[in-house]
Amino acid sequence: ARLVVLVSGSGTNLQALLDAIGDDPEGFGAGIVAVGADRDDIAGLERAERAGLPTFVCRVRDHATRDEWDHALTAATAAYEPDLVVSAGFMKILGKEFLARFGGRIVNTHPALLPSFPGAHGVRDALAHGVKVTGCTVHFVDDGVDTGPIIAQGVVEVRGEDDEAALHERIKDVERSLLVEVVGRLARHGYRIEGRKVHVGE
Ligand code: GRF
Repeated sequence: ARLVVLVSGSGTNLQALLDAIGDDPEGFGAGIVAVGADRDDIAGLERAERAGLPTFVCRVRDHATRDEWDHALTAATAAYEPDLVVSAGFMKILGKEFLARFGGRIVNTHPALLPSFPGAHGVRDALAHGVKVTGCTVHFVDDGVDTGPIIAQGVVEVRGEDDEAALHERIKDVERSLLVEVVGRLARHGYRIEGRKVHVGE
């Protein structure tokens, strides 16, 4: 399978995929063909360039309207003909053209146990709420915010001394291996989405 990975930050989830694929995309079942971002000064793009991958940047502020940004991101992604789009810490809500083009083939990772704590501050919100366990969710993207069908989740205990950064780092340890495992399984075994249920490899 051909993967396009979208990033907005440090790109450690991207790095986990790069490390897992290594020099054997056939064995993993997928290879990353390009990395896209919504900003240009991020480590995620440096990781892509170090891996010799094509990259593209679509910044909202470079476009007159959100719809024009949506169109640009869709066209830039479509140019690489992905089988799966992996949103790994991509911090923009994907637009309707992108969803129309790639819907059902966009996997997102979120650092909380959805449906709890959706949105851009899932770790902070969980901590503030005083939960004893949180975690991460890998799901298909639908037209809501972090609301699509759940593929897998991982649990992380909250510790008394945790601040947002410490907890997020512990979540990312689980999140990276969960994302690698899920993307590999989807790529190797195929999948079917029925309503909110995801059937992998049946
Ligand atoms: C991940 O925890 C992701 O779920 C969240 O932001 C983080 C991105 O980390 N949206 P990285 O850029 O993959 O290191």
